[in-house]
Amino acid sequence: MKGIIFNLLEQFVSENWGDKVYEEILNEGSLETKGPFVGPGSYPDSDLMAIVSKGVEKSGIALPELLRKFGRFCIPILAEKFPDFVTPYKHPRDFLKTVDNIIHLEVKKLWEDAKPPGFVLREPDSGRLIMEYRSERKLCKFMEGLIEGVGDYYNTPIQYRQTRCMLNGEDVCEFDLTFSHKSEDN
Ligand code: HEM
Repeated sequence: MKGIIFNLLEQFVSENWGDKVYEEILNEGSLETKGPFVGPGSYPDSDLMAIVSKGVEKSGIALPELLRKFGRFCIPILAEKFPDFVTPYKHPRDFLKTVDNIIHLEVKKLWEDAKPPGFVLREPDSGRLIMEYRSERKLCKFMEGLIEGVGDYYNTPIQYRQTRCMLNGEDVCEFDLTFSHKSEDN
């Protein structure tokens, strides 16, 4: 996983539980990476999950909940770092439709070794968006938090249900999203 995600995780741990807790996690010796995580670098997914697991131990928050909170935390920071990805849109649905074919495509151009997840989208009607998420990392709880963060960012609540899950042995995770308002292009 790219260093930018590790940097977000450091910020998440430090803001919630203090810099000292993050330092402790690094010093407990469970990580393969010895140096600092830098944004353009790539690091083992196992290190990300090791930091998350230590966060679970230190906070008492269960793993799925921690991943969800982390996802929600990431969106405002990503939006500030990459305003061109968010400001053209006024509605979360219009933004979410760009994640696969614009945002993560640009991420791949920026960092060749990035392996963003794959998405297949369907719009059964103007108030819904079905997102199929596919990734060997199976981070669907992180994905849930990102969806919530997008709702916060656009000040438009998103109701979602996860209808399929790779953690239950299915091929993909599927999220069925319903929006409170119609997007402006309808
Ligand atoms: C400004 C917005 C965004 C940027 C710049 C961005 C960028 C990135 C980057 C750099 C990674 C790491 C990929 C890697 O290291 O291989 C990543 C991972 C991921 N992104 Fe995005 N992303 C954005 C928004 C979103 C949104 C809105 C969603 C879904 C609702 C999403 C879903 C994911 C997921 C689930 C991962 C974890 C990796 C995995 O599951 O395999 N991203 N993103």
